[in-house]
Amino acid sequence: MASSFSSSSSSTVTIFFFVAFLVASFPSCVDSRGGERSFGFAGLANHSYEASGRHLLVQEMNQSEEVQDVTHGYMTNHELEKAMKKITYRCANISRMYSIGNSLMGIPLWVLEISDKPGQEEPEPAFKFIGNVHGDEPVGRELLLFLANWLCDNYGKDPLASIIIKNVHLHLLPTMNPDGFSLKKRGNANNVDLNRDFPDQFFPQNNDEQPRQPETRAIMNWLRENHFTASASLHGGALVANYPWDGSKDLRKQYYACPDDKAFRYMANLYSHFHYNMSQSREFEEGITNGAAWYPIYGGMQDWNYIHGGCFELTLEISDVKWPRAEELPVLWNFNKASMLNLVASVFKSGVHGRIFSALSGQPLPAAVDIKGINYTVKAGQLFGDYHRMLAPGQNYEVTASMPGYFPKTAWFSIEDEAVNVDFILNPVDGESRKLKPLENNCKCGYGGMQKSEMMLILTRNHLQVSIAAFAILGFLLFLFRRRINFRIPNSRQLVTHKRALVP
Ligand SMILES: *[C@@H]1O[C@H](CO)[C@@H](O)[C@H](O)[C@H]1NC(C)=O
Ligand SMILES: *[C@@H]1O[C@H](CO)[C@@H](O)[C@H](O)[C@H]1NC(C)=O
Ligand SMILES: [Zn+2]
Repeated sequence: MASSFSSSSSSTVTIFFFVAFLVASFPSCVDSRGGERSFGFAGLANHSYEASGRHLLVQEMNQSEEVQDVTHGYMTNHELEKAMKKITYRCANISRMYSIGNSLMGIPLWVLEISDKPGQEEPEPAFKFIGNVHGDEPVGRELLLFLANWLCDNYGKDPLASIIIKNVHLHLLPTMNPDGFSLKKRGNANNVDLNRDFPDQFFPQNNDEQPRQPETRAIMNWLRENHFTASASLHGGALVANYPWDGSKDLRKQYYACPDDKAFRYMANLYSHFHYNMSQSREFEEGITNGAAWYPIYGGMQDWNYIHGGCFELTLEISDVKWPRAEELPVLWNFNKASMLNLVASVFKSGVHGRIFSALSGQPLPAAVDIKGINYTVKAGQLFGDYHRMLAPGQNYEVTASMPGYFPKTAWFSIEDEAVNVDFILNPVDGESRKLKPLENNCKCGYGGMQKSEMMLILTRNHLQVSIAAFAILGFLLFLFRRRINFRIPNSRQLVTHKRALVP
């Protein structure tokens, strides 16, 4: 099912279904997402957070104590920073480096952005990889440098590298936990497991932001400033692609599906099947698992990304051995290379994408995008009104764009092998729109100068596409009609005198 990803061309189907829904009430903006939540088990929650959270992986912690001279051949934090800088010199036009904060011990949390327009906002999806969340799982931080170097070397040469760099903003944080790495332990310098330090949907007492670790806060702020479509964090100690939910409401180990279960299973399968042998796992069917079905965790980064960051995050366990000999790193890169590249490309090559504009001013709208039957809202970007939403292929969907002050619009489409593009032009509700200040401004300038020509451009484009579609349908009908006539000619010969009217 994922094999189509290897194709280099990526024509997107543009659908222009405009059906105005004259619905009286408008859905209000949803600011927290996810499955049903109820906190009716607070008594239980109090004692079990520590138990099931921090000390869950006893096995893994014992393993990390044996770690001795394993760092040999791995980059130190300082060497990692230098390697990242080197890429920004070597591929200056497609990369930049920035820090999202400091670790507890003051090491900058460096991010490498790879894109044909690094640092500029574009109406494109963004993807992030986070490595080394656990200090003693360093394979990911090295693989992200392999990935960055490979993209840098192959831009303009390899079609997949070019597709990613042109159409996606890729952000790589090789180490989220540089202190844990240098201390060769799982937690950060405070001994806190960073993948248990995020606010949790089932534990409201974990919602206070102040006592959080600096590394956790850096990630949370990063997601407030950037809109990532999807992401993955890289771990070690197993070989499996793990997807939300990580926790279950009643704390039991069980399959606990999030609203986008199908899209997540699609993404996890994509990773697993492009991997050298992840899908051959004997422990996990197809090499993928729902987090809570494996073991429930609370305060994890993955669920927080999906609920609060609008970001579809996977937790990838990429090597059975947490700290393999450095000589094995090139092999591990080869095992994961196709998976990593195709997962990044999937934010562009699958799902539904588009832009949303106001019919009145032509301005982009940060509208809400909802899929019927999936209780999860994706928001369009403020600057370009662009949205990017992961969806499982092989299905029909109904998408609705809505924005306070505008009539919502709905379109229908199906996703097969490629991404689908659905743009919307929303009509303002008369009277209602005048109450909104930004629209009032747009109203005044909307009919003159730049704004108008922008609007005309959009409308013309819209008409053009509708005309093309109408023309195509007409052509097809004509084709069918002719076939029908040709087919009829032999046996209608005797009837010709009687049924003359049939012959055009
Ligand atoms: C949808 O999800 C929200 C939480 O994000 C929840 O409060 C609400 O009850 C859910 N609605 C349905 C119909 O399941
Ligand atoms: C995958 O291949 C590696 C290297 O040959 C091996 O060590 C590992 O056990 C394999 N895993 C699976 C699930 O087949
Ligand atoms: Zn881990």
